[in-house]
Amino acid sequence: MATTLTSSRIETRPNWAEVSLSALRHNFRVVQQHVGADVTICAVVKCNAYGHGVEDCAPALEQAGAKWFGVTSTDEGIVLRGVGVRGRILVLCGLYPGEEEEALRNSLTPAVFRLEQAQDLARAADRLGLAGPVAVHLKIDTGMSRLGLPLADLESFAEGIKLLPQIALEGVFSHLASSEVLDDEHTAHQIERYNVALRTLANHGLHPPLRHLANSAAVEGRANTWHNFVRPGLLLYGYEYGLSRQDGSPVSDVPHLPLKPVLSWKTHVLGLRDVPAGQPLGYGGAYVTPAPGRIAAVSVGYGDGLSRKVSVRNGHDPALCHIHPSVGHGEVLIRGQRAPIAGRVSMDLTLIDVSHVPGAAIGDEVVLIGRSGNQQITAWDLARSSDTVVYETLCNLSKRVPRRHAE
Ligand SMILES: Cc1ncc(COP(=O)(O)O)c(C=O)c1O
Repeated sequence: MATTLTSSRIETRPNWAEVSLSALRHNFRVVQQHVGADVTICAVVKCNAYGHGVEDCAPALEQAGAKWFGVTSTDEGIVLRGVGVRGRILVLCGLYPGEEEEALRNSLTPAVFRLEQAQDLARAADRLGLAGPVAVHLKIDTGMSRLGLPLADLESFAEGIKLLPQIALEGVFSHLASSEVLDDEHTAHQIERYNVALRTLANHGLHPPLRHLANSAAVEGRANTWHNFVRPGLLLYGYEYGLSRQDGSPVSDVPHLPLKPVLSWKTHVLGLRDVPAGQPLGYGGAYVTPAPGRIAAVSVGYGDGLSRKVSVRNGHDPALCHIHPSVGHGEVLIRGQRAPIAGRVSMDLTLIDVSHVPGAAIGDEVVLIGRSGNQQITAWDLARSSDTVVYETLCNLSKRVPRRHAE
């Protein structure tokens, strides 16, 4: 196998993610067209662009027209500046005390959800001798009860921030807990409380020009949350969360956006063996071959981000008896065919059953996410067999997996 040299490291192990920057740019344009030119998109690129490699993805999004980026923290924002991103960067979870000067030096725009954060920023702006006021976005809690200023504290916040000439309240936002459930009452209440908060601020003479509520599902299905600014993440990477109703039924009257999955994840067959019936495979012998067959060892494991929950078990495994039986139907693609995972995923290796795949050979490409022939496994498919959501599956792709970005 040829050794590949990337800018940061030498790759020898055949396990990599292919990231299509043209698909990413396409998805940005699809979302922009959907919300219209008057609505600003804040491209959410936190957590290494949902595992896609932010150092390449953020500049690609900027090329596609992104003017704003959403990150979790100051350090993520600094990474964007380091790769030359010039757009505005919103730090969604705000600053940790002591980071203010660093954030301001890097022209980051913090979320604030306590008056003290704005006061700390004002003092940092004085110390740095900044010419103009520092823009902040107020995050309010409208019902998710995670992070955000409680509505009960809004009036005192409004009075307090007016005393800080160094601070400009540029934005006000909130996050929806169940935006994908279109008839969800709690979401309706959240939207209502957000509108009340805007009125309260207006009563105090505050009219933040940027107003935002919508994540991906709300971008898709709730135009009443768009205001003039939206914060999609997942859609940009080519996935919908899936709109539904409270009774669990899928929504059919909202057209799907023509998105393209951005990331494929691939590896190779490292070993191959013929096994008799009754052969326990891998750790704990958690899978016992029901018939003679052919088993391939492939270069992927939980050390790469493949959840151990996709393990397929059928044998006696006392260590597993407390794990819920419904999880674990992992599959991969090889030579255009689906092949089940056999036994427990380990740190570096996973076994797959290739008994039905003629010609399967050492060195064959194995697809964990992506296409092979006319078969496809999406990140959502992998998430379901891991008992989780697509976000976690993408973010869990570990550092050990090099991201190969292609135009
Ligand atoms: C505050 C905030 N806004 C926007 C997003 C983007 O969400 P999504 O990927 O569902 O669009 C997130 C993601 O968790 C978030 O925390």
